[in-house]
Amino acid sequence: MFSQTMSRYKLSYVRNGLGRFEFSRRSFTHSFDAYGKLCSWKFPGNGTAFFTTKFLKSKFYIDSLNTNDIAQYTIFGAVVPEFSELQKFVAMSRGVDNMNVNIVRFYNESNGKFDYVTVSDIWKIYLVDPLSLTTKRSVTANIPKGHQYTGSVKLYTTLSTAHPLPEHGTKYHITYVSEVSLIPGLKNKMILVRIKSAEEREAIAEWEVDRVSYMHSFSVTSNYAIFFAIPYFISISKMIWYMDTFEGLVWFGDRPTLVYVVDLRNGEIKTLKTENMFFLHHVNAFEIGTSKLIVDIATYHSPEFLKGFEMTTLMDPVKRNKFDAHAHLKRYHIDLNANQILVQSFTPPKHIPFATYIDMVTINEHYRFRNNCFVYGVVLNKDNIKFSQIALIKKDLCGRNRDAYWYLPAHYPIEAWFVPSPSSSKEDDGILITPILDGLKKMSYLAILDAKTMNLTHKANLPTTIPLSFHGRFFEDLY
Ligand SMILES: [Fe+2]
Repeated sequence: MFSQTMSRYKLSYVRNGLGRFEFSRRSFTHSFDAYGKLCSWKFPGNGTAFFTTKFLKSKFYIDSLNTNDIAQYTIFGAVVPEFSELQKFVAMSRGVDNMNVNIVRFYNESNGKFDYVTVSDIWKIYLVDPLSLTTKRSVTANIPKGHQYTGSVKLYTTLSTAHPLPEHGTKYHITYVSEVSLIPGLKNKMILVRIKSAEEREAIAEWEVDRVSYMHSFSVTSNYAIFFAIPYFISISKMIWYMDTFEGLVWFGDRPTLVYVVDLRNGEIKTLKTENMFFLHHVNAFEIGTSKLIVDIATYHSPEFLKGFEMTTLMDPVKRNKFDAHAHLKRYHIDLNANQILVQSFTPPKHIPFATYIDMVTINEHYRFRNNCFVYGVVLNKDNIKFSQIALIKKDLCGRNRDAYWYLPAHYPIEAWFVPSPSSSKEDDGILITPILDGLKKMSYLAILDAKTMNLTHKANLPTTIPLSFHGRFFEDLY
């Protein structure tokens, strides 16, 4: 009865994120490993909203429930008390199973419907029901041997991205998979992939790489896919030695970033270089003429940012207030003819000096592949005093001083999704929607902000807290 009633409500906002940080006596050392938990808000159109939240019933979560302990699967950090060496080996051999980062939907060519999936930075995904939030099953899709894909020998792991992107002009999505070779002399590979459904994939191009970079996101323009292969590499030997993913990632602060530009029309690959940097999120990318590409990225000086989310730092006010939580929004001008990349920093407006420190970025999706003026994001530690001073920012990339922000002490917002007004004609004509944790009441609420002004216009209190939600999106035609 419940699901029948809810199925009429096609307007839904669904998010994925962190729900549980320990099991019995054992806990995670890094917050990013917390068990995935989905939240959704359904809007019947009469000024009310229905809230649902459920843990992702991954094998990882189910096994943990059954044993009343953190089950042995590959995680980003470690656990305390530590696993035994045998348990660590079992964990590494099982791979990652906790898809706690994002929820997206793929058009399913075979039935004309959508597959809703939870994703992380690996190839495996979980199919979910977006209305009931129940978990259906895991999927590890095959990559068919197309005209360019030569297949792989036994490889250790398949990294991917939690941010697959729509393909311009089609109903498909684009993603990538990195395959790390276990065999000396056999090169690692990157494969650009078209998603035709949760289970059906098509290789667009593949190329060999000396080392595999950790890349949480990438960019797609009308004709190109663009990868910034930062010098933050997977070291299989270190991963095996430490039995720890975080320890198995090696940063080279003196090496450039390799940039792969792949032509979606013919699979041709161009390799360029740019500055040393770390990033998690691309904002958007677009083409100028036939040979120039613009890519906006929220960058960091190094992956040290990730260490700030270790539980020992988050739980210690002195430590967490000291760590450098600021991203730096940058624009990369790629000239395919000259084979060069120019780097541009954005200047914050005087009235919002922290406006360029944004990450967890979103845009008006109608402006993807286009020269968008606005990016919305989150700034942690906005005044460099307290990590917990968190502002929601609207940054004007076109330099017309339309930057704005929302901030309330002890209120903790996270990524805000932009929903355009039904009849919008301007890029910022719409709302931002996000859950915010009220630190004083220790309760969360759903907030709606006017994207023009960044004023909070509506809120709906929740009967629970949402500890840290990563990513989500609004579906106006959920079914
Ligand atoms: Fe992300």
